[in-house]
Amino acid sequence: MPSTVIVGAQWGDEGKGKVTDLITSDYDFVVRFQGGNNAGHTVKHGERTLALHLMPSGIMDEVAIPVIGNGVVIDPGVLVEEMEMLETEGISCKNLKISCDAHVIMPYHKDFDGADEKRLGENKIGTTKRGIGPCYQDKAARKGIRIQDLLDEKIFRLKIEAALSQKNPILEKIYGLAPYTVDQICEEYLPYARILKPFMTESAQLLNTALREGKNILFEGAQGTLLDIDHGTYPYVTSSSCCAGGAAIGAGVGPTAINKVLGIQKAYITRVGGGPFPTEQRYIEDGGSPEESIIGNLFCTEGHEFGTTTGRKRRCGWFDAVIARYAAEVNGLTDVALTKLDVLSAFETIKVCTAYECEGKIYDYFPMQQSVLFHAKPIYEELPGWKGTDISTCRSFEELPENAQKYVEYIEEIAGVHISIIGVGQDRQQTIVRGWTSK
Ligand code: IMP
Repeated sequence: MPSTVIVGAQWGDEGKGKVTDLITSDYDFVVRFQGGNNAGHTVKHGERTLALHLMPSGIMDEVAIPVIGNGVVIDPGVLVEEMEMLETEGISCKNLKISCDAHVIMPYHKDFDGADEKRLGENKIGTTKRGIGPCYQDKAARKGIRIQDLLDEKIFRLKIEAALSQKNPILEKIYGLAPYTVDQICEEYLPYARILKPFMTESAQLLNTALREGKNILFEGAQGTLLDIDHGTYPYVTSSSCCAGGAAIGAGVGPTAINKVLGIQKAYITRVGGGPFPTEQRYIEDGGSPEESIIGNLFCTEGHEFGTTTGRKRRCGWFDAVIARYAAEVNGLTDVALTKLDVLSAFETIKVCTAYECEGKIYDYFPMQQSVLFHAKPIYEELPGWKGTDISTCRSFEELPENAQKYVEYIEEIAGVHISIIGVGQDRQQTIVRGWTSK
């Protein structure tokens, strides 16, 4: 029963969608286990590029069964829209399974998300404003609405009534926003229930039966290690467990069911939203020097670093080995897929951060105190590049220019995990497979 977890090893947007798409054919099930439509990945379908937010990217495979696990938060309007878009593109959603225990994003969750960010002003988290945090907040407070509650109108009405008795006064009195009525929410949500009902499943049972039958499962993480609610750069994180351990909880399988953890790392690093980022090459508009800004902009344009969900320009910086080592440990990585190596072809020399310096102290492990991370100065190793050489046609490690090979070997050694897949371009075939096996 080989099963694999794919996790982002940085701050998300590492190219998980492409890697999932590449290896899905080895698996019988592809399972999303956390997050919601804050995620976004683009997948190529023939000549067209499609943006998925909620659907496991394995849906494109049409053989592996896509599952939305109990750990995911679902905005039913977005899910229905995504299903319709896929059907229009000729991609069938008939095999989709949705956990009955997944929580539902309600309209007031989205209101709270936006209003809270406004209230925080300069200290805002930079959320996607999709209602993710407030929905997980209700889940932890045992006040959430689950997908299964949509199945029974009477129960749904009662739960909404109870929720609104608490939410409406906060919406009105604290945020100055309009309240909701039970009818208003039922009118919007109950039609979704009719569409989604045939897909609702006891997904933990489904997956455990599959494991017993020797089926292969791919658990597809969203966001990334440093956005994890426990192990990320709190409070500048998302509200779910994006690390590998989250797969067991968010899908309802035991940790012993997982035998491979594939961490996805970009050959440089990006983040969206607020929070510390030691190797960031800030844009002029964010207070960066002209030199920094040139590098930041080069990463952004060469790497097409704009958010799939929000369209925001991503913050960009050099590869950070302190983060890579940390991600290897907290996820128990067995393999790494290094993506977007081709973007580094734009640089004469390439820097890798090997440790931080803060107030005279050297940190080669992720610092305990967040304030250190805010003030950390990266200590760099500068490696020779392969500027101008197009590596997008390379299909084996040996075809890469010598300096590109050395770069890969250097970060492999410094992070202590074998790099089994290397991305050299946007397309699925622009990939070097270097010893990856699902077994
Ligand atoms: P939320 O998940 O919308 O609450 O946002 C919390 C933080 O996670 C913000 O900094 C977002 O920019 C970030 N975030 C959420 N989803 C993603 C993602 O898929 N990629 C990168 N960053 C994300």
